[in-house]
Amino acid sequence: GKWGIGVDIGGTKIAGGVVDAAGRIVRRARRDTPAHSPDEIAAVTAEVILELARAEDTDPAGVGVACAGYIDKVGSTVLFAPNLAWRDEPLKARLSAVVELPVLIENDANAAAYGEFVQGGGRDVDDMIMLTIGTGVGGGIINDGNLIRGAYGIGGEVGHLRVVPNGIRCGCGNRGCFEAYASGTALVREARELVRSGSPHAGRLSELCGGDAEQLKGKHVTEAAVAGDPAAVELLADLGRWIGEAAASLAALMDPQLFVIGGGVADADDLLLDPIRVGYERQLTGRGHRPEATFVRAELGNDAGVIGAAMLAMELEE
Ligand code: BGC
Ligand code: NA
Ligand code: ZN
Repeated sequence: GKWGIGVDIGGTKIAGGVVDAAGRIVRRARRDTPAHSPDEIAAVTAEVILELARAEDTDPAGVGVACAGYIDKVGSTVLFAPNLAWRDEPLKARLSAVVELPVLIENDANAAAYGEFVQGGGRDVDDMIMLTIGTGVGGGIINDGNLIRGAYGIGGEVGHLRVVPNGIRCGCGNRGCFEAYASGTALVREARELVRSGSPHAGRLSELCGGDAEQLKGKHVTEAAVAGDPAAVELLADLGRWIGEAAASLAALMDPQLFVIGGGVADADDLLLDPIRVGYERQLTGRGHRPEATFVRAELGNDAGVIGAAMLAMELEE
């Protein structure tokens, strides 16, 4: 097909777009995400799709829907979502009841990785890994030009690699997952703890949240770090070290040419990427005797999931 519709179901927004064959968004629609009931979310997602599909000059071949969870191999059911109440949710069936187009459900980080691969930071490589640092940590692995889905659709769930035996509890129920240390959620947890400690080191962060740690957000930490606040810089450096060390383990497995780092925290740019590189170099096996992957910030920002999901849906039709 010529065009596709991509939709990204996020924690706060459901963002959609009509995407052309070159991977450009030519029309957009968005709604607030209704509070967590899967059928409400499906209903609002269908609204976004219909708004886009009915627009003039739009003749999409299919719809790709990116969603933060484990999606079955055929792209129809959300089997499990560590940070959402979705269990065995037949999302494709719910959408197909309303939308007369082929629908593909895809993991959010897989979709973002594919978007970056086709149209963003990874457009010049065949082997890359995207890490999305947000509420959770998502992974999308492109190997020899192909998105890795595994036997059952759940490949590339890098957020749930265990990095600390008996570590912090993760939304997936296990302990010590990478995402419990390297997500935006983990960054905010650490920053709030610092504010609560009353340490003079937390001065700027404490000001930014009016002294109420519960009001502190990830963007405050990023802003403070960009403005040079040492505590915020350190918090990002800790996060980066976790990411870089995990990336080294991923390199032992996949040997990618490129890591693309996305999610809101990536706005901190080299304040995050430099510590990632340091952690990676420290932990990479065979360092000095092998080619090394490079690290770049995602180029497409919040559009990566929409673009990637639409491109994957278009391929379905070929
Ligand atoms: C989920 C992934 C998702 C990631 C980013 C993780 O907790 O397991 O499926 O891609 O968060 O949203
Ligand atoms: Na993934
Ligand atoms: Zn986990």
